Amino acid sequence: MNEAPVGVFDSGVGGLSVLREIRQLLPAESLLYVADSGFVPYGEKPPEVICQRSRAIAEFLLARGAKALVLACNTATAAAVADLRARYAVPIIGMEPAVKPATLATRSGVVGVLATTGTLRSARFAALLDRFAGSVTVVTQPCPGLVESVERGELSGPQVSALLSRYAQPLLEAGCDTLILGCTHYPFLRPALQQLLPENIHLVDTGAAVARQLRAKLTEHDALARGPAAPARLWSSGDCAVLEQVLPLLWGGNATVQALSV
Ligand code: SIN
Repeated sequence: MNEAPVGVFDSGVGGLSVLREIRQLLPAESLLYVADSGFVPYGEKPPEVICQRSRAIAEFLLARGAKALVLACNTATAAAVADLRARYAVPIIGMEPAVKPATLATRSGVVGVLATTGTLRSARFAALLDRFAGSVTVVTQPCPGLVESVERGELSGPQVSALLSRYAQPLLEAGCDTLILGCTHYPFLRPALQQLLPENIHLVDTGAAVARQLRAKLTEHDALARGPAAPARLWSSGDCAVLEQVLPLLWGGNATVQALSV
């Protein structure tokens, strides 16, 4: 059981930002990763479609022996984590926009959230605000186009900067001093975003916290691996050649890529 792999998935390559945090914190763990790039972006899709994709991918990973699942996708977590937890007995860790740390960090009392429409419209996000926003004003900004840029491996350049400026500007004008990167694709755009923002703006994301949560769950289940880890195995429901092309930039480690047939 301990040497069984951890299964991680996302609508595409964004979850590799979380996979990197897991590799850094838990180097002995063998990792399986599914990029559902044939169906990306999830952000504008109906929750039922995302639930159905999430179920199919979870079953694919469980069939390959995954001892825990990480939904490295805020949109999929909002739509499907409750359904998956009700169906499968393994620990299932989801993402959520870092509202709590952001509300603790802000000095201006105004926090901005960059995320997909699906995440921002979800009941899960509304519950997160009810629970943690308190007296802090939270301003939200959907960001169509950013996920697609990261999928192409386009992390900088004039088009990316234009999109980032368009989305960051209203948040800055509203007085935000803390911006939440509420989609796992966005940490890859952090350097481009930082170039556009005043120095006092604080960016927060939840990748490292999710890796710590995974470690806590595996510890609780006495399921931490001793290692050595096998090379990561990756599947894509999209074009594997595209994934192979962006991997050195977004992952950097050893990995095999195969086509996903679910
Ligand atoms: C998307 O596929 O639209 C974004 C995934 C995420 O929310 O992390």
